[in-house]
Amino acid sequence: MGDSSRIEPRNEPLKRGHGVHFPDTKDRGITYMPAQNLHVATLPWHRGRSTSIMSPSSLIDVRTAVAGQRVPRLGGSRLLGSVRELRRDYLGTISRAADEIGGLARISAGPPGWRVTFYSVSSPELAAEILGQPDRFRKNGPGYRELRRELGENLLTSEDESWHRQRRFLAPIFTRRRIAGDYIHIMIEEAERLVERWQAAATEGRSVDLYPEMVEITSRVIGRILFGADVARAIPQLTRFRIVNEELLRRFVSAHPTPRWLPTPHNRRLTYELAQVRHIVDEIITERQSERVKRPTADMLDLLVAARDAENASDRLTDTEVANQVLLFLIAGRETTAVTLACTLLQLALAPQWQTTLREEIIEQLHGRMPSAEEVHQLEWTDRFLRESMRLYPAAHGMNRSTREDEILGGYNIPAGSWVEVSVWGIHHSPAVWHEPEIFDPRRFDVPAGQFPGGHRYAWMPFGAGPRACIGTQIAMLEIPIVIAAILQAFVLETSLSSVPLHAAITVLPSAALPLQLRPLQET
Ligand code: HEM
Repeated sequence: MGDSSRIEPRNEPLKRGHGVHFPDTKDRGITYMPAQNLHVATLPWHRGRSTSIMSPSSLIDVRTAVAGQRVPRLGGSRLLGSVRELRRDYLGTISRAADEIGGLARISAGPPGWRVTFYSVSSPELAAEILGQPDRFRKNGPGYRELRRELGENLLTSEDESWHRQRRFLAPIFTRRRIAGDYIHIMIEEAERLVERWQAAATEGRSVDLYPEMVEITSRVIGRILFGADVARAIPQLTRFRIVNEELLRRFVSAHPTPRWLPTPHNRRLTYELAQVRHIVDEIITERQSERVKRPTADMLDLLVAARDAENASDRLTDTEVANQVLLFLIAGRETTAVTLACTLLQLALAPQWQTTLREEIIEQLHGRMPSAEEVHQLEWTDRFLRESMRLYPAAHGMNRSTREDEILGGYNIPAGSWVEVSVWGIHHSPAVWHEPEIFDPRRFDVPAGQFPGGHRYAWMPFGAGPRACIGTQIAMLEIPIVIAAILQAFVLETSLSSVPLHAAITVLPSAALPLQLRPLQET
């Protein structure tokens, strides 16, 4: 590739503006933001808690004594701070804080006495500092506490030695070589299955709704990776996971979630559905433990059950620990990949010339075949398109940390017990980091070896950064191009939408249907 004359330069620039209510989403309290092409909903910020009381350590901490400045606060209502703005448009508020204040902004919400404060970080340098020091910036905010309670200790929620131990067990299972060798055939088969399913819609001129379609394929892929041949049994339970996700989400986005011990319909539903999912996972694990015959190809569950700690060969994961990881992978591996796929495919429909560029690249390299892992890495423009899509629509839009002690960040004081939100969204949309950040342009990622797009190693960080970065990156970055390659070799994609309608919850999610019209490629 590299023939720039074949490349559609840009979509229409998006203009910054104020949020207006979008009729279809009225009931859900979602606001349409022309500036970001977004629909934004209430977020979990209001469940955080911070204290501005100086801990005794601050009196003797030299760093605190030298700096001693409070982080500038985003302007808002005198009485309620930014509460209304955050509710109406969380991500727009984060962007405004980055524009008006800079890479570190204090955002307060709620009346005095009930006020919640958090520190929004939209600077790659500060993000590197925070994410690189998990002993100081802890996973102990409200979101992680809730996840820990519902799903148990797992790789995402644990800390310190417990996390180190789990990561030692799991890292060898998630290597690029293993993912490419053991699981690529699953991704290819599922992509082909999807294309087959979509043929009927294409010939009948029906459009498909992208997000549920993508949830289905990513569920099947992660289900087969984990459970292999047992996936047929697990699939109905995977469907249940949507309910678990919804209920967890409801708690996250609620200002005052009901205590879990109260027997409300939602609480009971969450408890019941989680128990059902856990039951099938436990059942399959127990069977695996008792099996004498080794199966010809080990699925990920076999590997988890057989895993031994590299530093202590007699140590193994208990059945509960295995089950906790499986539940986590079902949640972490599905929604994020599905929403990224949905946004990327819709973006292809929104940018027809880029679609042609990618299709030409794919056909030139693959001639109608599906790619090997090596060939996926050679699809340069497909890769750049995907990265640009993940920049504009980062599925995990923010990472929540809390400070154990008083900290100095960018020369400012952050008191102990504060909530610090590393905003991937803020960094990816910051004009201080990216030139004209609202414009979709995959050429940003065409940089010489050794240079970072956006000029900083952490200017692009959809998978997080530092030791706690995503362990499933290789799965997503193989699965998504394979699905794109299969689809673009079969269909031309069109949409009646003019932008990607999203809202922000735990992850970024579509706020409306994402209709995709398919035309069989041969017809064009
Ligand atoms: C496009 C897809 C994905 C995105 C955008 C994504 C994003 C992220 C991010 C931002 C983090 C860091 C969270 C933090 O530091 O607070 C993370 C962690 C994690 N992700 Fe992913 N993820 C994706 C796919 C997957 C998949 C496919 C799996 C597994 C099958 C997975 C499993 C995990 C796990 C276990 C962690 C915790 C790692 C640790 O703390 O050691 N993710 N992910």
